[in-house]
Amino acid sequence: MTDSATDNRWNHLWINARIATMSLNGSQGGSAYGMIEHGAIATQGDRIVWAGNMSDLPGEPAALAEEVTDCNGQLVTPGLIDCHTHLVYGGDRSAEFEMRLNGASYEEIARAGGGIVSTVKATRAASEDELYEHALPRLKRLMADGVTTVEIKSGYGLALEHEAKQLRVARKLGNDFSVSVKTTFLGAHALPPEYQDRSDDYIDMVCNEMLPVIHAEGLADCVDAFCEGIGFSVAQTERVFEAAKKHSLPVKLHAEQLSDLGGSGLAARYNALSADHLEYLNSDDIAAMKASGTVAVVLPGAFYCLRETKLPPIQALRDAGVPIALATDCNPGSSPVVSLLLMLSMGCTLFHMTPEETLAGVTRNAAKALGIIDEVGTLEVGKRADLVLWRAKNPAQLSYLVADLPCQKVLFAGQPRAAQ
Ligand code: NIG
Ligand code: FE
Repeated sequence: MTDSATDNRWNHLWINARIATMSLNGSQGGSAYGMIEHGAIATQGDRIVWAGNMSDLPGEPAALAEEVTDCNGQLVTPGLIDCHTHLVYGGDRSAEFEMRLNGASYEEIARAGGGIVSTVKATRAASEDELYEHALPRLKRLMADGVTTVEIKSGYGLALEHEAKQLRVARKLGNDFSVSVKTTFLGAHALPPEYQDRSDDYIDMVCNEMLPVIHAEGLADCVDAFCEGIGFSVAQTERVFEAAKKHSLPVKLHAEQLSDLGGSGLAARYNALSADHLEYLNSDDIAAMKASGTVAVVLPGAFYCLRETKLPPIQALRDAGVPIALATDCNPGSSPVVSLLLMLSMGCTLFHMTPEETLAGVTRNAAKALGIIDEVGTLEVGKRADLVLWRAKNPAQLSYLVADLPCQKVLFAGQPRAAQ
């Protein structure tokens, strides 16, 4: 037995691992995936305290750590980050899915009072407990893919009481499970029926009544809006961004999903953390995003489910050096998707991203899209010890196998996560 008072060994040491640190791009001069071929990584409390080559370890593993895991040459990556979800909602939209396959478009359904507004009705009718129970299997499914951080938006309440209810459920999920939840206030997601033809009044309410309370109650880490013909104009989005700025909250934006309104350029002017969707993004706005450090979040689940044919400009983003992240956009309308690994597969097959780009898209760049790159997203000393051991040696298997790579172990904030 060791005396814990005098035991200065690390808590946990993972040895004989292929460590995809994701700390640098292959194209930035680092090795591909920031790979350490014969690696070891140590944790103390909730932090990574050592990472490097096995040959540089300062002693015998058993003498260095209380617990040693031999990875037998298998792959270790950062915990995965799903940086764009609408995970907490009521009801489902399978009937609209059927309507779409019978010829109606996503926009037609939305304009006829379906779409987002139909989920709003179901979300308003649900109690906090019901929303929690409904969201839980979706969260657990994401966690089964090695997700250790998830962003959750409001946007299906569209009234203070119900937006706050959604965000409280999101916070509670983060408190109850071994996963970090970042919340985003998306009051400007759609126009609620009681504000029909009064969209400016609704934006006033979002800015002057909802946001101050949501912020005062600590319910939002960020503010988002849906800038689109069926959402809000660039001018209205700007008012939301101004209000966010007043409360020192960072912003992000649903932009250029169905048309090019220039929302991404506006997002860049407000130093947004990210602009998301981006199928219709133009080259001026790509340059603006590069200059402001705004991450491009692409959402292949929505592209696939809406049978979109216009691809986001991946090559132009790549050429410009804009960081690209990938997320599920988990929501009941455009992307009923709960597998982040599936997004890696689709990022490669649909968007022509490389396996390394897709993994960066759910680690380093997803952390940037949430403003938490100093905390997570790469395996480096000082960061939170969120990591995944995979039943794989080659990181390309994460995107090559279609949503089918089991995680062998997940460490969240230094603690092994029990199977869900
Ligand atoms: O990210 N684009 C707007 N919002 C969601 C869709 C929401 C819905 O259809 O319920 C999205 O795709
Ligand atoms: Fe979305």
